[in-house]
Amino acid sequence: MAECSRCGRSGEALYKLTNLPGLICKDCFITYYEKKVKNCVIKYEMLRGVKNIGVAVSGGKDSMALARVLSRLFPDIHLKLIHINLGIPSYSNECQKIVEKFADENSIDLIIYNIRELEGYSIDSFSKLPYVKRMCGVCGIVKRYLMNKIAYENRLDALATGHNLDDTVETLFKSYLKGDIEEIVRIRPLLPSTHPKLVKKIKPLIEMTERENLLYVTLTNTMHVDVKCPFFKDSRMMKRKKLISMLEEEIKNFKYIFFKSHLKKIQPVLSKVIVEPALRECKVCGMPTIKDVCSYCKITSKMVTVVER
Ligand code: AMP
Ligand code: FES
Ligand code: ZN
Repeated sequence: MAECSRCGRSGEALYKLTNLPGLICKDCFITYYEKKVKNCVIKYEMLRGVKNIGVAVSGGKDSMALARVLSRLFPDIHLKLIHINLGIPSYSNECQKIVEKFADENSIDLIIYNIRELEGYSIDSFSKLPYVKRMCGVCGIVKRYLMNKIAYENRLDALATGHNLDDTVETLFKSYLKGDIEEIVRIRPLLPSTHPKLVKKIKPLIEMTERENLLYVTLTNTMHVDVKCPFFKDSRMMKRKKLISMLEEEIKNFKYIFFKSHLKKIQPVLSKVIVEPALRECKVCGMPTIKDVCSYCKITSKMVTVVER
């Protein structure tokens, strides 16, 4: 009978992961997963000087795994979950319900930021503008801006997101193909605060694969949404992810090796050459930006023009 390659027990359900030799049982997987996340947090000094942390939760498997694992590993750090309700019909309310239930059952503070109520538009509104072809990009600008603003206004020391290894390698792959050096140099587990209104960003799951996060939420009975955002249509991204998975099958631990060589060898050299532009305050909203007017104010001002017509 098959047995767990770690504890040797048999008669239990066993799981196979491409980056681990042999099969693994539920208890050993949870121990392995939590230890790996803890090591990553310690290795990159993500929580140095952090007492209050914002955890950005979309309701999906990665960010729910993040909320679960941080609450288990660091009980002395005050967690505040942050959820942005993007106002996408048949999607956003489902996500909010899951996050609320999780926060309630685990007695964790939660901030719900409903953009329709608080900003007067929804992500859906962008689909009526010329942005319709790049909805995810626009949505990314909105989420990044609001997550930082909420964390700043709540005086949080750091903001954690659920970016995983697969997403990171896919972004790296795309940036290398485009030769986007500015983007490549920014791909790091920790982005320090370089302006008083810019909160430090951390990615505690940056070394965890999508499959590991999914298995963790499943085995710890952590609720998460299964529905995909209706605007998600990035077929090129899916193709790149498929290619990366094929490489992983041929070259053991390809994703991790690729990420590590970027982080240890390429990024440090590039960061000496690429000078990050100085941040100033947006003329409209006062939040940090490299231009006169930040990307958020730029895209939302176009929407007001359309709505007013
Ligand atoms: P994505 O931009 O969808 O790839 O998500 C990257 C990370 O951003 C997730 O792992 C979450 O930590 C965070 N995030 C995405 N959507 C939301 C949301 N609606 N509310 C709060 N955090 C989010
Ligand atoms: Fe932002 Fe889908 S979640 S466009
Ligand atoms: Zn602005």
